[in-house]
Amino acid sequence: MAEPSNLRIVPLVDQRARSIPVGSLAADPRTSSAEQASLTDRLGRPLRDLRISVTDRCNFRCSYCMPKDVFDKDYQYLPQTALLNFEEITRLTRQFVAQGVQKIRLTGGEPLLRKNLEILVAQLAALRTPEGQPLDLTLTTNGSLLAKKAKALKDAGLQRVTVSLDGLDDAVFRRMNDVDFPVADVLRGIEAAQAVGLGPIKVNMVVKRGTNEQQILAMARHFKGTGIVLRFIEYMDVGATNGWRMDEVMPSAEVIRLLQTEWPMLPLEHAQRGETAQRWGYANAEGLHDPAAGEIGVISSVTQAFCSDCNRARLSTEGQLYLCLFASQGYDLRSLLRDGSPDEQLAAAIRKIWHQRSEQYSALRSALPPGSMSQGRRVEMSYIGG
Ligand code: GTP
Ligand code: 5AD
Ligand code: SF4
Ligand code: SF4
Repeated sequence: MAEPSNLRIVPLVDQRARSIPVGSLAADPRTSSAEQASLTDRLGRPLRDLRISVTDRCNFRCSYCMPKDVFDKDYQYLPQTALLNFEEITRLTRQFVAQGVQKIRLTGGEPLLRKNLEILVAQLAALRTPEGQPLDLTLTTNGSLLAKKAKALKDAGLQRVTVSLDGLDDAVFRRMNDVDFPVADVLRGIEAAQAVGLGPIKVNMVVKRGTNEQQILAMARHFKGTGIVLRFIEYMDVGATNGWRMDEVMPSAEVIRLLQTEWPMLPLEHAQRGETAQRWGYANAEGLHDPAAGEIGVISSVTQAFCSDCNRARLSTEGQLYLCLFASQGYDLRSLLRDGSPDEQLAAAIRKIWHQRSEQYSALRSALPPGSMSQGRRVEMSYIGG
């Protein structure tokens, strides 16, 4: 269905230059080494997951993320010199890992547009946790370049990929990406990733009511029994340009009810604390989970916020640290990288920043009356990464 044209609200405020200097923070007040060893924020949440945006560019124009009328030919992307280079990213990531990060996700924009990305992947794959374990190293992609790059990424040490795919019907998919990109090419990318062993593969589908909800069952049918985990994401009010409206959100509970019209499904345990998705398994004739049929996930950031366990930090393309997907300002780590500060100072900055974190946007939004949270000053997801 076409989007009503009078609903596009585009208050583009450029938040990219607004950053918080790290020197303005108070020092970590905890003095004993035991206290310091376990880094938690003000709500007791550890730091485990670092999402690194490697480019603010994308070759798609999904209306919920980079609407065409804002991200047009005149849009000013970051200049090359503003971007962290691979050495800077790796040096910073090493410090994050020393502070408890175990999972790294490369994002964008579209991360595969960043030249020679496999070199960065190889550098990150060589990092080890303080216990000597490799990191969970993954990447979110729109799949358009995956067929070409899957093997090089795997060879460089990438473990798995998550592919964004909002429908199987070619016309619907072309409308969602808004650049007329054919779905067959993304499906070929997913096959290539599977063939080289970049798994377990996850497929993320953002569900927008009135646009692609009729694709839910077709997507489930397609991926059931393939080992690929399909996840349905509630359309979020992230950023300030997508003209979000609650009536375009399809609550996950409704998605599950729809799936249950076709298959018996049962809820599964969380695989890890702080996970974004609630897992549901396809049931067999005895009503038990059938692992061969597999599972799906629902990510309900609008109707069932998961902030209480949120262990995710986001590093923007130009080296600002964001403590929430809905933040309006980041902490400027790039200046520390570029002013000759030693590693200890980077580590201290990360500790200070995480220690005073209290962000929980989605949880607060659910607790407040609709419309009472400001949408005007948030950064875009293409800049800090999904
Ligand atoms: P896995 O480890 O593979 O399960 O990944 P993940 O679920 O942590 O990450 P992924 O990037 O696949 O996240 C899926 C989607 O969930 C994102 O594209 C966002 O739409 C949403 N999401 C991820 N992290 C957050 C978060 O911290 N807050 C909110 N509100 N939404 C998030
Ligand atoms: N709502 C939900 N998810 C979004 N993404 C981007 N914008 C939104 C939004 N408004 C997520 C999707 C996509 C990934 C790159 O970012 O999951 O797959
Ligand atoms: Fe690009 Fe992903 Fe945003 Fe779509 S959701 S515009 S593919 S970064
Ligand atoms: Fe974490 Fe912010 Fe998302 Fe809540 S809204 S889960 S705090 S990123």
